[in-house]
Amino acid sequence: MAVTRRGSDAVALSTPPIGYDPALERLEIELLLEGVYRHYGFDFRAYAYASIRRRLWRRIEAEGLETVSALQARVLHDSAMMERLLLDLSINVTAMFRDPPFYQRFRQDVVPLLRTYPFIRVWHAGCSTGEEVFSMAILLEEEGLYERSRIYATDINEVVLEKARSGIFPLDRMQEYTENYLKAGGTRAFSEYYTARYEGALFSPSLMRNVVFAQHNLVTDRSFAECTVILCRNVLIYFDKSLQERVHGLFYESLSPLGVLALGAKESLRFSKYEDCYEIVSPKEKIYRKIR
Ligand SMILES: C[S@@+](CC[C@H](N)C(=O)[O-])C[C@H]1O[C@@H](n2cnc3c(N)ncnc32)[C@H](O)[C@@H]1O
Repeated sequence: MAVTRRGSDAVALSTPPIGYDPALERLEIELLLEGVYRHYGFDFRAYAYASIRRRLWRRIEAEGLETVSALQARVLHDSAMMERLLLDLSINVTAMFRDPPFYQRFRQDVVPLLRTYPFIRVWHAGCSTGEEVFSMAILLEEEGLYERSRIYATDINEVVLEKARSGIFPLDRMQEYTENYLKAGGTRAFSEYYTARYEGALFSPSLMRNVVFAQHNLVTDRSFAECTVILCRNVLIYFDKSLQERVHGLFYESLSPLGVLALGAKESLRFSKYEDCYEIVSPKEKIYRKIR
């Protein structure tokens, strides 16, 4: 009998339903992820299991289904369902100037290094809806470095990239973003960067003049050439150890000598075989520099 569980948060917290069999549930999940990979090319097989499981059950619940296998059947026959599932699995939570001390540190410790480069290539891997990219464009603009920068912003999910390209963000988050911007060392009026349009804040298109948004999958796609800075924040946390290691390899190959790698607050290079290839620029803000 296929495993059945209802209730969105029930997955982690409630008692298992009658017939619950963790081994069978795992098998169903593995089969679904294998099917998604083989049919659509999205490879979630090495994502952290607990998180994937929670997300799958959320989608099962939302679709009024009963089992992982039922979801698998629907996903394989309905690409619109795959699009919804992709949004669930890719977890797109983000914010402008997220973790303001990170941007403060970046201004303080990384910007002086960047001033020594005639041309700067920045890769935002897993950029979601683009808030992080606009934040970096603003920072580089204020530091007088934007003109010589090219930002490549990538994500697995085309839907979020389309939102990023629009440059429109929810108006009701502008107060939070203004506070983040000031805490991050911003010195202008944050409202200079956008105009209010109905429910949205439209950011100045000139901030995007040196940005390229593109779909890129960290699991299956190749490295980028000669990056000066790679930011991959709050993405590796969803991957299992082996996949994290693959992605560290990708970043190592993509960074130019003395290039800078920035990870999320809960991520690090510890226990990676690439750990010794970097020096730590900021242990707290997870900023590293490639030294060998
Ligand atoms: C939680 S968001 C982080 C957004 C931003 N970096 C930040 O810190 O605010 C994680 C992003 O990683 C993307 N992602 C997940 N798996 C990916 C993969 N295999 N390749 C590229 N991006 C991926 C998701 O689509 C999502 O937009």
